[in-house]
Amino acid sequence: MRILIVGGGGREHTIAWKLAQSPLVDKLYCAPGNGGIAQVAECVPITATDIDGIVDFASKNNIDLTFVAPDDPLVMGMVDALEAKGLKAFGPNKDAAIIEGSKVFSKELMKKYGIPTAEYEVFTSSADALAYIEDKPCPIVIKAEGLALGKGVIIAQTKDEARDAIREMMDNAMFGDAGKRIVIEEYLTGPEISVLAFTDGKTIKPMVSAQDHKRAYDGDKGLNTGGMGTFSPSRIYTPELAETCMNEVFLPTMEAMNKEGRTFKGVLYFGLMLTQNGIRVIEYNCRFGDPETQVVLPRLKTDLAEIILAIVEERLDEIEIEWYDNAAVCVVMASGGYPLKYEKGYPIEGLDEACKADNITVFHAGTKKDGGKLVTAGGRVLGVTATAPDLDSAIRDAYAAVEKISFKDAHYRKDIGIK
Ligand code: AMP
Ligand code: GLY
Repeated sequence: MRILIVGGGGREHTIAWKLAQSPLVDKLYCAPGNGGIAQVAECVPITATDIDGIVDFASKNNIDLTFVAPDDPLVMGMVDALEAKGLKAFGPNKDAAIIEGSKVFSKELMKKYGIPTAEYEVFTSSADALAYIEDKPCPIVIKAEGLALGKGVIIAQTKDEARDAIREMMDNAMFGDAGKRIVIEEYLTGPEISVLAFTDGKTIKPMVSAQDHKRAYDGDKGLNTGGMGTFSPSRIYTPELAETCMNEVFLPTMEAMNKEGRTFKGVLYFGLMLTQNGIRVIEYNCRFGDPETQVVLPRLKTDLAEIILAIVEERLDEIEIEWYDNAAVCVVMASGGYPLKYEKGYPIEGLDEACKADNITVFHAGTKKDGGKLVTAGGRVLGVTATAPDLDSAIRDAYAAVEKISFKDAHYRKDIGIK
């Protein structure tokens, strides 16, 4: 098979790395890719949201399957555009990707089908939203409806912060059209777990669990980021909890999407919180998580190409998916200043040394080749990943590898995996 992966971050490097191991894959392309992906796939300079460019490339290059990895092209309908040209694509159609693309849609879906989530109200006017929060307790959560690069959720600690967030989103269009409608919801507390699941709309097969560290600094301090590190499995995701989630969240969500005429095929990501009152869905994503993928796919024993082909052909029930009984930890090395302003273009040293141990893989998030030298090219730069028989050993080995890598102003959390 000739496969084209759309995207260019750590998640896409992990997907490319895994697909490159498959005997079913003859040739891998990635658009636009990055400095690390270039080691396993041929990178083509087409941006991930350029639907016409991707369709054109796939048809001219006899691509057998296009794997659309990021949220925005999925929400924009890239899979539909490929299918309209008779091309095979992995990922949900536009009308199913709305489960991530619109928080109003996902909240209403959960309410309609009794899937446990935080209490909420939807607002289309800032005056109504401002009046609503007056007699509500703080913290309170304000969410822009649409995609906002992971920044559309504000946890307001005070009424003033809540008022500012409402005005910024609705009156000042801080997130553009994404903030025209907002969701205001109750603030929940408890550990968060990410469970990604393969589904073809008939069968749903959860992957091994993971936990993300979203804040920039140790001890969950600082600003929210795209994710500073992950580990798998989650220590709190017991087999009993997994069974509850299957019955109360995963299957009901797949069936709800079918009933709505929006069959979801691809990877459905469940962002869960274990509250004192039980499990709650915090969010859905219509794709693999980043950096969850960096700890989940290294634990997958089964050929990923075989699985995605089965999903596209709606025969996921025929595939047995096997996992290694081990643990994985990914420590993100970011540019100093991330998630705010940061510099790019610094040379990266020590990668070969770090990768000498065979349980270490460094997934590139924001790197590029500059005259033969690898340099930083984004906020999140590398995902240094270790697999080991248990979490403690994986943490130790991941940090031993991180110590060997350097670039100017590199920043990483020292407490990944210790939750
Ligand atoms: P989302 O984009 O909806 O996943 O929100 C981003 C992050 O905000 C989540 O991972 C949670 O840490 C936090 N969050 C979202 N909704 C709530 C809530 N209702 N209560 C507490 N924290 C939340
Ligand atoms: N790691 C969170 C996400 O992929 O949305």
